[in-house]
Amino acid sequence: MGVTWNTVVEGDNLDVLPTLAPGSVDLIYIDPPYNTGNPFAYHDDFRGHGAWVAMMRPRLQAAREVLAETGAIFVSIDDNEAAHLRLLMDDVFGEAGFLAQVVVNLNAKGRQLGKGFATSHEYLLVYARDPRRCVLDASSSETVDERDFPLTDPQGRRFRHLPLRNTNKKFNPVTARTLHFAVWGDPESGRVSTTPYDGAVEISPVFGDGTPAVWRWSRPKIDAQPGDLVCRVVRGTRGERVDVFQKDWLYRDDGRGRRKKLRTIWLAAEIGSTDTAVAELKELVGHVFESPKPTGLVRRILATMPEDARVLDFFAGSGTTGHAVALQNAEDGGTRHCLSINSAEPTRPGSNAQLAGLATVADVTRARLRAVAERVGGGLEERSAGSPGGAGSEPVEQQA
Ligand SMILES: C[S@@+](CC[C@H](N)C(=O)[O-])C[C@H]1O[C@@H](n2cnc3c(N)ncnc32)[C@H](O)[C@@H]1O
Repeated sequence: MGVTWNTVVEGDNLDVLPTLAPGSVDLIYIDPPYNTGNPFAYHDDFRGHGAWVAMMRPRLQAAREVLAETGAIFVSIDDNEAAHLRLLMDDVFGEAGFLAQVVVNLNAKGRQLGKGFATSHEYLLVYARDPRRCVLDASSSETVDERDFPLTDPQGRRFRHLPLRNTNKKFNPVTARTLHFAVWGDPESGRVSTTPYDGAVEISPVFGDGTPAVWRWSRPKIDAQPGDLVCRVVRGTRGERVDVFQKDWLYRDDGRGRRKKLRTIWLAAEIGSTDTAVAELKELVGHVFESPKPTGLVRRILATMPEDARVLDFFAGSGTTGHAVALQNAEDGGTRHCLSINSAEPTRPGSNAQLAGLATVADVTRARLRAVAERVGGGLEERSAGSPGGAGSEPVEQQA
């Protein structure tokens, strides 16, 4: 991988995918054509679904080949094909590879047109190439609410107090004998120790009703991290008592923000909507693509994988994934690379894309990623699957 953040290849992904080295990609995000437009929108739904699955199966099989053993794939899908895609993914990646079916709320108000429900979400199916080796971290620093850390130490570091006592009654001196022991603390200085010292009072873990409890930390852990504990006087229904608390820091020692597990419902307020996605595209190159995805959606996906991830989107459309990779690299100093593949599918006659001189969707992909390279940085390498050497050929154009 070079220093370039983005590469675009024009071609049918079924031709391009086999030219990529096996295991050379860490993360795949795709948003395949749904079963609503041509050429899959048959009146006979069964045939339509069958044709869609037949189109997708060999592409997903080829995608699995290029995915590293530690890698993962995210696929956007709406209600039309969610059930068929789930079974197809189970088939290609194995049921054990299933990680999540995320509900993505891309249209907060819901579609008010037509009959029936106002659909306000679609899905993201997430599968691991090998669930035992997958490096996906299903958490994010974004979803941590700083307001949950109301205290500040003299160095300005935010934290909150958590009882050192295990508040879960399943853990008690019978079930966790070694965690029931006395410690010594001084509420004046806050100091906590596993051995007695001058001015310290002996503290044993007890539940609110006074019955014996256990600590969450072992003796050696308390000895190793005395600075992360504090002794305080607390006022409860049974009067005042002296207790021990963990200082739970907002940022860890290495300066990295703490992370919180991602829920399986992603809200438009957090990741953007179809409307904000159109606005992002419009701002860069114009309203030249009908339903792009918001970069916020892809950025949240990127944040689950390492900062040097090799990313692939083989239904690239307007190039949202490449845009998101550039934004993420620019923000966190990452060295992700994104390969975007799109066919030379003609844009609709009379569409904004045609009026802007973009004859094919691949032209749209390139136009956006050129603008991204100029605006955000990271350069752009452009290749054509049909050019000598195919997808592995030298860049035909380089933008810094
Ligand atoms: C739903 S769009 C992707 C939109 C994209 N996520 C975005 O945010 O702009 C699907 C794209 O797949 C492309 N496509 C369809 N069949 C393809 C194929 N066989 N090879 C490459 N691209 C294909 C279409 O041209 C279309 O741009």
